[in-house]
Amino acid sequence: MKQFIEQLPKVELHLHIEGTLEPELMFELATRNQIAIPYASPNEVREAYQFSNLQSFLDIYYQGANVLIHEQDFFDLTWAYLLRCQQDNVLHSEIFFDPQTHTARGIAFETVVNGIHRALTQAKHELGISSQLIMCFLRHLSEEDALATLEQALPFKDKIIAVGLDSSEQGNPPEKFARVFAKAHEASFLAVAHAGEEGPALNVKNAMELLKVQRVDHGVRCVEDPALVARLIQSRMPLTVCPLSNLKLKVVENMEQHNVVDLLRQGLCVTLNSDDPAYFGGYMSDNFLAVANAHPVTKQELAQFSLNAIEASFISPEEKQRLTERVSQFIRQA
Ligand code: HPA
Ligand code: ZN
Repeated sequence: MKQFIEQLPKVELHLHIEGTLEPELMFELATRNQIAIPYASPNEVREAYQFSNLQSFLDIYYQGANVLIHEQDFFDLTWAYLLRCQQDNVLHSEIFFDPQTHTARGIAFETVVNGIHRALTQAKHELGISSQLIMCFLRHLSEEDALATLEQALPFKDKIIAVGLDSSEQGNPPEKFARVFAKAHEASFLAVAHAGEEGPALNVKNAMELLKVQRVDHGVRCVEDPALVARLIQSRMPLTVCPLSNLKLKVVENMEQHNVVDLLRQGLCVTLNSDDPAYFGGYMSDNFLAVANAHPVTKQELAQFSLNAIEASFISPEEKQRLTERVSQFIRQA
């Protein structure tokens, strides 16, 4: 099964680029940029990654991002992730970035976008990996701050396909950003939002109705509302589920209790993703493997996660067709 999982063609739809900052690169950038970090070694950084909930992770995660200063730093961060994609046979990735984490520290918006985008372009040419960029608003910050960030993104419209919503879900529900998302739609951005990770099923419903999202990120707490589950099945609204993240942030107690396989069998368009792999202990194949080790799934079911991700992605119908064929061909010879 391990080999099948590693070789299965995959599409990632829920990945925060700042969450791919491995402790070794954090140290390298801290030295390069002369930034003090409160750890003595990469191993000490890893040992600090014990989280009790989403907020305890976010505090450490935003601190880690302080070492990212120059365009080259954002390039190096993104390139390292893309090399991991190649290793895991990820053919396409739709990548979140959090501009406010950086602009609040005086880093220019264009430094962030240009560094990430240069790596994405190089990966297309050299690794054959395609990608899209999704700009997330930090929901613990104000509506006004999000509106200003949207304004900053307009000159980079050709490099950003969609807007998203991340950070602390509790106390910052989707409705706080209804006007921001309406403006983003007016500017013809697509939209996604984290909802139903730590927050209630109502947040999933409101992300769909008020933010008019094309996908829901996480969404696993949808099961608390059976009518909502029925609606997700009927509409094929995708959920980008992140099993190792849910385990590390204690959204679930153990992987056996995770509902993603059950949701798949009920006919939801669920996908598997790594979220913040440097912090949660695994990239794409690790997430597939963690699910397969805890649940008796068939190869066809594992492949269905890939097919769902292709269906839920923001690529052209022709590209969807091409990737679907890659997965189908792989299953036939597996
Ligand atoms: N949830 C909310 N915000 C985040 C996450 C997450 O899983 N990862 C990075 N920012
Ligand atoms: Zn996330």
